[in-house]
Amino acid sequence: MKISVIGAGNVGATTACKLAEKDLANEVVLVDIIEGIPQGKALDLWESAPVEGYDTLCTGSNSYEETAGSDIVVVTAGLARKPGMSRDDLLEANTKIVQSVAENLRSKSPDAVIIVVSNPLDVMTYVTWKVTGFPSERVFGMAGILDTARFRSFIALALGVSVRDISAMVLGGHGDSMVPLPRYTTVAGVPLAELMDAQTIEQIIQRTRDGGAEIVKHLKTGSAYYAPAAAAVEMVEAVIKDNKRILPCSCYLQGQYGLSDVYVGVPAKLGRKGVEMIFELNLSAEEQAALRKSAEDVKSNIAKLKL
Ligand code: NAI
Ligand code: 2OP
Repeated sequence: MKISVIGAGNVGATTACKLAEKDLANEVVLVDIIEGIPQGKALDLWESAPVEGYDTLCTGSNSYEETAGSDIVVVTAGLARKPGMSRDDLLEANTKIVQSVAENLRSKSPDAVIIVVSNPLDVMTYVTWKVTGFPSERVFGMAGILDTARFRSFIALALGVSVRDISAMVLGGHGDSMVPLPRYTTVAGVPLAELMDAQTIEQIIQRTRDGGAEIVKHLKTGSAYYAPAAAAVEMVEAVIKDNKRILPCSCYLQGQYGLSDVYVGVPAKLGRKGVEMIFELNLSAEEQAALRKSAEDVKSNIAKLKL
């Protein structure tokens, strides 16, 4: 099992570190355009192996030769947000970066499952799918697990219960119009609305929508990476272990939820082949309208690109 992580910045390096510590693969290859960064970080990770007790060989490179034949690739290359920027402000610069990454992956790892992290997430996943020409079940994006984790962590704080007992779902694009679904959120099986008043739920939904910006405001020099890396690793693990986890992922829709030719967050069954099934939740008219609006936001950004 060989995993490549493209982009050795905050999310990429943290992802590589978590992958190695979980000992999920024989090899993790870190790639970046900055000379020395992937080599140095990968060597540092490999030197952690004797202490942490993993056998995952970590290597770094500025070229794609070393990534050849990867089983799974996590794409984190691209600019991150700074204070005052939206994810959409990254559209033009990151499209160029992700296009070049996808071209390299197409030729060097034609059978890989690709998990995209670069922002704006749903559009960059579409770009990767389009450029590689891979079947859409092998190209999907990470955002829903992160957004859902934020939602769950805020609910846990408000109720004073373990995050592990909270099950939640956030659909839609990874942007301001994401669609947290309190109706599909339970605490040890109890519907959220039985434990919390509507106003508190609405405040937590808004904090979830603003979750990325809240971290950017603190960090000032970049955006979140511990939770994003943890979320990407959860997806990699589901693919490697083929354990059919049902996780919110940005998937290519072909009629599901009445939406087509767009990547947007929906619950997906993940296995060795990638997205093995998309689940269609029974949405209220209001939830469906919110999902449609979110997908339209993604589509309008896709339309700005000349793909
Ligand atoms: P970062 O700035 O720390 O790292 C990005 C790395 O990409 C840099 O080391 C840079 O040299 C590298 N890079 C640029 N062009 C490249 C190319 N053509 N090939 C290979 N590497 C290249 O940024 P960070 O924090 O790691 O974020 C990475 C991306 O992930 C950003 O676009 C960010 O917005 C996105 N992100 C998405 C999340 C999600 O939920 N989907 C969550 C967190 C970040
Ligand atoms: C986040 O939500 C930056 O999209 C990234 O933290």
